Amino acid sequence: MKCKICKATAVVALKSHNAGFCAACYKEFFARQVARGIEGQKLFSRSDRVLVALSGGKDSLALMLELSRQGYDVTGLHIDLGIPGSSVAARGVVERFCAVHGLRLMVRDMTAEGLPIPLVKQRLNRPVCSACGKIKRHFFNKVALEEGFDALATGHNLDDEVARLFSNTLRWDTAYLSDQGPLLDGEQGFARKVKPLWRLTEFETANYAFLMGIEHHYAPCPYSPGASFTTLKGLMQRLEAAMPGRKLDFYQGFLKRGRPVFARRETEEGQPLAPCTDCGYPTSSGDLCGVCRIREALRDGSSA
Ligand code: AMP
Ligand code: FES
Ligand code: ZN
Repeated sequence: MKCKICKATAVVALKSHNAGFCAACYKEFFARQVARGIEGQKLFSRSDRVLVALSGGKDSLALMLELSRQGYDVTGLHIDLGIPGSSVAARGVVERFCAVHGLRLMVRDMTAEGLPIPLVKQRLNRPVCSACGKIKRHFFNKVALEEGFDALATGHNLDDEVARLFSNTLRWDTAYLSDQGPLLDGEQGFARKVKPLWRLTEFETANYAFLMGIEHHYAPCPYSPGASFTTLKGLMQRLEAAMPGRKLDFYQGFLKRGRPVFARRETEEGQPLAPCTDCGYPTSSGDLCGVCRIREALRDGSSA
């Protein structure tokens, strides 16, 4: 197969775009898709300070590198979850990556915060993943607001987004359907959240990470060995194999025609938010936010 752009030997074949690319033209293709994702949805501009959440996985590292290559003002944020073995390795990958590319990095250590995930897991009487997600989102938001960033970016890709959309649709979860998407505007104590890789699949991002020589951390979390949405991602892969391009169409159709309908409904029915009585983080509980409830459970040994 030949590169669609320059006719050199192709190293990547993309069915959804019915095209092959050589290494140099593939990097340009990737850059263009990221740029279209940012500009098309007005995620942020070159004058904005963007905080990029870096897990150590290939998606967030690829995102950080590409944004910096495009001249955006980026700073990395890594949340060290305090999980023996895996967190040390992930943090090491992120620190080396930022050092090699001369990128700014901030690290928040959950052990120092009194919230190491193994302790949270031990104290909660339910799977730790949702509490862990809550803790991560809490610190993404806190750091973004306290340090005056204009947006918080995560490495979610098209496969993550489509699987989540499919899952929300299967449950007709109107609250989630009202604000799922690559852009969540900042409001009432929430930072603006963006997902600039929303046009790119896991496969496309993995190819970019490989061609750019990005070292990444791929050991699964010991507490959730199956990646999230595995079954739904599998179904979507089969659909995409039979009908190339369908994943992106489904997602873009939702953004254009689905989300506005759900958003209208939620503004009428939405729960009012008030600051957490302990830390000030917005919550609809009328009392403590989710993370302060976890802290409370750790303090008195009860379950949150
Ligand atoms: P995941 O939910 O693990 O697929 O991660 C989705 C995105 O959240 C990643 O692409 C990162 O941007 C961010 N993320 C996940 N874990 C961490 C972490 N420990 N520190 C910083 N960012 C993270
Ligand atoms: Fe949070 Fe595994 S990364 S529970
Ligand atoms: Zn709180």
